Amino acid sequence: MNNDQKRYWQSYYRTHRDPGANTAFSQFCLDKFLSGCGSLLEIGCGNGRDAVFFAANGLDVTALDQIGEEIDYLNRTRATDKLRFIEADISEPLNVGSFDCIYMRFSLHSVSAGVQERFLSGLNGHLNEGGLYLVEARSVKDDMYSAGVQISKNENITDHYRRYIDKEELASTLKNLGHRIIYQTESRGLAKYGDEDPVVIRIASQKAQNCRA
Ligand SMILES: C[S@@+](CC[C@H](N)C(=O)[O-])C[C@H]1O[C@@H](n2cnc3c(N)ncnc32)[C@H](O)[C@@H]1O
Repeated sequence: MNNDQKRYWQSYYRTHRDPGANTAFSQFCLDKFLSGCGSLLEIGCGNGRDAVFFAANGLDVTALDQIGEEIDYLNRTRATDKLRFIEADISEPLNVGSFDCIYMRFSLHSVSAGVQERFLSGLNGHLNEGGLYLVEARSVKDDMYSAGVQISKNENITDHYRRYIDKEELASTLKNLGHRIIYQTESRGLAKYGDEDPVVIRIASQKAQNCRA
């Protein structure tokens, strides 16, 4: 499954190499949560559109993705002393520093529930105390939920693999890591793309002092 998914993104970025406009979620996070934030790690940065935006707005940004060709391209064309791209697979242990914020947009639904559980827990050790997880992902209420080939209750394959996220389950996972949920919503209108207006969830959680890492 992961190899097919990886091939899909490899092929996608061959024709979408350059960062386009940043997403609505990145602007929302910048306005609402990131004023006191110095460093940010982006998980599944794709062609770097949000990473470039955060760095342009003064954050020190490390952005990772599994697609090495795209990461090499972004390092050649977009890296600065405040912005670096690394090739990494979040299903493996990550070798990164520590951050005030870990940002994940439309990347959680690229991995299985088991991988999500492991990497959210592992990454918690790379989040400074009081640091934030900021997540946007397709909800289980998304119209695409029942499209394509179902491979489990919340997983399907259309042109590529997706797992749809249950907001309450994710909030509960984050609370079990010692996080406080500081914002959550589930709605259409947040991530419009062409004719698509998927139901997405947004969750912001904060790592407490002395919590389990
Ligand atoms: C839907 S795209 C989102 C890209 C970007 N966050 C955006 O909003 O434009 C999902 C991204 O997650 C990356 N991804 C999927 N599985 C991954 C994994 N196991 N490790 C690292 N990146 C992964 C894909 O390569 C892809 O770039």
